[in-house]
Amino acid sequence: MKQKKWVLILAITALFLSAACCYASDGHGHEQNKKVGILLVAFGSSEASAQISFEKIDDRVKARYPGIPVNWAYTSHIIRNKLAKQGKYLDSPEVALAKMMDQKYTHVAVQSLHTIIGAEYDDLKKTINAYKVMEGFQKIILGYPLMATQQDMERTVDAVLATIPKERKKDEAIVLMGHGTHHPANAFYAALMFQLQLKDPNIFVGTVEGYPEIDMIQGLLQKKNLKKVWLMPLMSVAGDHAKNDMAGDEEDSWKSILTKAGIQCIPVLKGTAEYDVFADIWVDHIAGPLQHF
Ligand code: CO
Repeated sequence: MKQKKWVLILAITALFLSAACCYASDGHGHEQNKKVGILLVAFGSSEASAQISFEKIDDRVKARYPGIPVNWAYTSHIIRNKLAKQGKYLDSPEVALAKMMDQKYTHVAVQSLHTIIGAEYDDLKKTINAYKVMEGFQKIILGYPLMATQQDMERTVDAVLATIPKERKKDEAIVLMGHGTHHPANAFYAALMFQLQLKDPNIFVGTVEGYPEIDMIQGLLQKKNLKKVWLMPLMSVAGDHAKNDMAGDEEDSWKSILTKAGIQCIPVLKGTAEYDVFADIWVDHIAGPLQHF
């Protein structure tokens, strides 16, 4: 009787193992060599604070998906060249993927650390599509940036609300600076403002290079007679745009424009990647590609 029970346990175990094997196979008998990797792709930054937040994201990804190697790539040429002069060598997505292919990775989850599905995200998709037609990776999938689905929008709204400085009073405005783009995905910024205002009517979203522009935001602030604003970047890194276009002393910076209009400005020089609530949205998105491996 006891022996029968053991035979049954063995049979069930064997069944489970074979099922797991089938699951891992793509039908070409590659399952023995399956090698999964993650590639994190950011615009990049040469700011020290950004390096720290990227390292933190790296730690969070490794903790969340243990045992999966994590690689990095920066899309910005300028930033990669700048870093190279300091002896820090970062790959472009093209080079990073070539190396991963050479290292016999079979399944790659590429995670964009961008804010919207804009031009840079599209470029990354093109690169990935080129790798798809090559012999090498069995699967290569791109994860969503910060805002893609409605659920992401809701999480982003919550993340913005959670990162507003505690000292801010309700009759003081929050003005987020998004990058903005000629790409159709520029609509995400106004969509985010709408959803933020449902929760807090004194939050505004403008962009440096798209719609809504700062003139419109200024008009909205004046219409509500708001006299004090907290300026916050809606960009992963508080880099050049945040330092100069948002908080700089030049007369065309948002701070200067609003101050001139009689609105007191308090710039917060912290990128979204520096906050765990935002970082977790990107980190969670890696589960999307991984579930197909
Ligand atoms: Co720019």
